[in-house]
Amino acid sequence: MENKNTLENVVALCKRRGIIFQNSEIYGGMGGFFDYGPVGVEMLNNLKRYWWKDIVDKRENVVGIDGTIITHPKVWEASGHIENFGDEVVECKKCHQRFRPEDIEEKCPSCGNTEFTEPRSYNLLFKTEVGVIEGSKTTAYLRGEACQNIYLDFKNVVDSTRQQVPFGIAQIGKAFRNEVTPGKLTFRSREFEQWDLQFFVHPNDMEKWFEYWKDERMKFYKGLYRKHENLRFYQHPKEKLVFYAKDAFDIEYLAPWGWAENEGIHWRGDYDLTQHMKFSGTDLTYTDPITNEKFVPNIVETSGGVTRTFLYLLLDAYEEEDLGEGNSRTVLKINKDIAAYKAAIFPLVGNKEEIVTKAREVFDILSDGFKVVWDGRGNIGKRYRYQDEIGTPYCITVDYETLENNTVTVRDRDSMKQERIKIEDLDEYIS
Ligand code: GAP
Repeated sequence: MENKNTLENVVALCKRRGIIFQNSEIYGGMGGFFDYGPVGVEMLNNLKRYWWKDIVDKRENVVGIDGTIITHPKVWEASGHIENFGDEVVECKKCHQRFRPEDIEEKCPSCGNTEFTEPRSYNLLFKTEVGVIEGSKTTAYLRGEACQNIYLDFKNVVDSTRQQVPFGIAQIGKAFRNEVTPGKLTFRSREFEQWDLQFFVHPNDMEKWFEYWKDERMKFYKGLYRKHENLRFYQHPKEKLVFYAKDAFDIEYLAPWGWAENEGIHWRGDYDLTQHMKFSGTDLTYTDPITNEKFVPNIVETSGGVTRTFLYLLLDAYEEEDLGEGNSRTVLKINKDIAAYKAAIFPLVGNKEEIVTKAREVFDILSDGFKVVWDGRGNIGKRYRYQDEIGTPYCITVDYETLENNTVTVRDRDSMKQERIKIEDLDEYIS
């Protein structure tokens, strides 16, 4: 079931089940900042591992880095962010709330007034200060996009690894934007995470690699989400491309509020390395070890939002099912690789020592290879409902029969079918 309330339902589920919390909630909250709860952090880590496996682990021509959030301030001059990393903002003349012009339809979303100031431009970078002595502190910026570290480390990676062009550098990391109108849970946040691949190629090979990464990235998202009809490419119109880009595509997801960006696949050409050469004075040209040709590598960038993907995954997975006879359930049919726990282990009753001990044994066996969770609280029906809501693929119940024949009941999240499985076969069954 998909309806207009899916976002509201997902927001409620996130709080109820420890997936995403509003940051500083006890102080009234901070708009655009979120914490991940005990269930959410497991899912988010699994999501990042899923990307890393696909982009780094399975390829011989991609390596990873982990860069800092604060860099030399000149980085943001070179990248152009200080001059033009802006959004337009208009102010309601009555309630003085500020909005992006595209977010208002004639009336102020807050008070209904129809009069606004003229649009003004507004820089999204967060400023901070580095240094201890008042008066000699340096203004620095929290990175507005995570990818800049990759350009900064390009030469270090070439000099320290066995990689040769074409090759890629990958990174997952936080980015910060002082968004005018954060909203729709984590969709537009002020602190969020990005996954970036910058793939360095010979200028003559750009076309080929651009197509290659477009395909790879769409395949990735199709592997992640259930509803493939909610994915599409959007090609940026030629007249709106930045001057150095020959092409740019977004992978978009159909959210309850319409098609929205998930990841950008950008033709960056030699722009980034050339800018950093100019501003730093360091030579970033590459010499082909076989032909000795010297050139500035061109870049195909794939840059997606980790936290935004996570929100889309929740929307993609959320279902309310009518079970008949007045019963219903909420279930998160999330990709099994991303679920917080692979299985939940239930002792049927909490007051029979042999059953609890046997269930502990099962927990110990499985927790060696999988992330599993223990639940001994309430009746079995309630435990199923709880695990369904957080998307646990299997619930394993240790009962009286287990003590006789070493089998347990395994219940599947999606089909709700139950099977008896031997404890020794559980490992294989789950994987
Ligand atoms: N290095 C290129 C770059 O940063 P972008 O299109 O501005 O490109 C890439 O950002 C991705 O980061 C977007 O596709 C989106 O998924 C995510 N993203 C951007 N701004 C965001 C925000 N305020 N909150 C959450 N995710 C955001």
